[in-house]
Amino acid sequence: MQGMANPRKAASAARTSSVGGRRRITTGGPRRIQSGQSDGPQRQRYLVTFPAGLAALVEECLRADLRLVSASHRDDSALLFSTSAPAESVAKLLYIKNAFQLVLEVPRTSLSGAAKAIAQRLRRSVPPGLERMSGFRIMAQIDGQLEPLDRHAKGTLERAVMSATGARVMSRGGGDELWLIGRRALGTIVLGRRLSRAAKPGPAGSLSPELSRLLVRMSKPQGGDVFLDPFAGSGALCRARAEWPARRVIGVDLYAEPRFDSPRAGAPIEFLREDALELPSVESGSASVVATDPPWGEFESFAGSAQEFYAAMAASFRRVLDPRTGRLVLLVSRKMEQLVADELIRAGFEGPRLVPVLVNGHPATVLNACPAEARDDGG
Ligand SMILES: C[S@@+](CC[C@H](N)C(=O)[O-])C[C@H]1O[C@@H](n2cnc3c(N)ncnc32)[C@H](O)[C@@H]1O
Repeated sequence: MQGMANPRKAASAARTSSVGGRRRITTGGPRRIQSGQSDGPQRQRYLVTFPAGLAALVEECLRADLRLVSASHRDDSALLFSTSAPAESVAKLLYIKNAFQLVLEVPRTSLSGAAKAIAQRLRRSVPPGLERMSGFRIMAQIDGQLEPLDRHAKGTLERAVMSATGARVMSRGGGDELWLIGRRALGTIVLGRRLSRAAKPGPAGSLSPELSRLLVRMSKPQGGDVFLDPFAGSGALCRARAEWPARRVIGVDLYAEPRFDSPRAGAPIEFLREDALELPSVESGSASVVATDPPWGEFESFAGSAQEFYAAMAASFRRVLDPRTGRLVLLVSRKMEQLVADELIRAGFEGPRLVPVLVNGHPATVLNACPAEARDDGG
């Protein structure tokens, strides 16, 4: 619960004091954690990171999944926001790579300057976010890249945290992680307590679980959907879709062996070994969603030209999608975005929306479209 004092015994807590010019750790109780506002739902601030390019979609998902979200900073792969939802709810958001609960924020300066400024603030009062911590270590990052922190500044901050909470330093890990975080476009450096970390990546060439889940969210999942990934590869998109209720989830691949076991499976996943450019077993107009990551034409070559491949793909997807309610989400290499968009329009899709993203640092584009009739119907 926010605002609770650390329940650890006072005798085990450590405080720093200066004796004869030398800093010394003395025992004493951890100080009381400040509570937030007393009236109305308590709001906490969080910083989350996600696959680059999808900030607008992530903000939309946060508003749908948490209470009273208001964002104060947004860049291509991080959002700083406040909400009345508890930290456990933020930690459970599976499309987030890393989530941090904000403890303190100081004006932007060097990392060591920020560490010292935060230590000073901690000596005056202990903000929410440091409850129930028995061991911790301090790490630092700028724009998601791990940064070294000067030993002296780190020691100063460690002592201030020990004194405030009674927790001990566990520099090899195993306890909580407190991160000093800087972002290029953020005028402050924040101290955040890590709530969750990115899932382990799948096999080479597969989409990350977080990106897969965001692409599924872009497809606006509904319980009655027939979901199709015609280039399923390892099965990342089908596994992400199976976390939501669906009528059917179908993966197709001509060559790969997808892995369809999903720890959170709400729907079983079916597999078809056939050509995505034909989809002979899929009835016309029967799919609610096609969400897929076709070959990018960079590590593999097409039998004919790229244009022939994407033209056949667009016609195949147009045939199987429900003409009134169908949705298409397509991830392609940035170099191919215009060619693929042109072929989609030629096949009868309404003006695709293009969202630039980075996939493992590689420029790519998500195309989000629906059959032209769906728009004519106001669908
Ligand atoms: C970019 S990979 C998809 C990776 C997948 N998103 C994942 O997370 O593992 C493209 C996949 O399309 C498959 N493929 C290529 N041509 C195909 C075709 N004509 N029909 C069906 N599958 C095809 C390949 O075997 C490969 O697994």
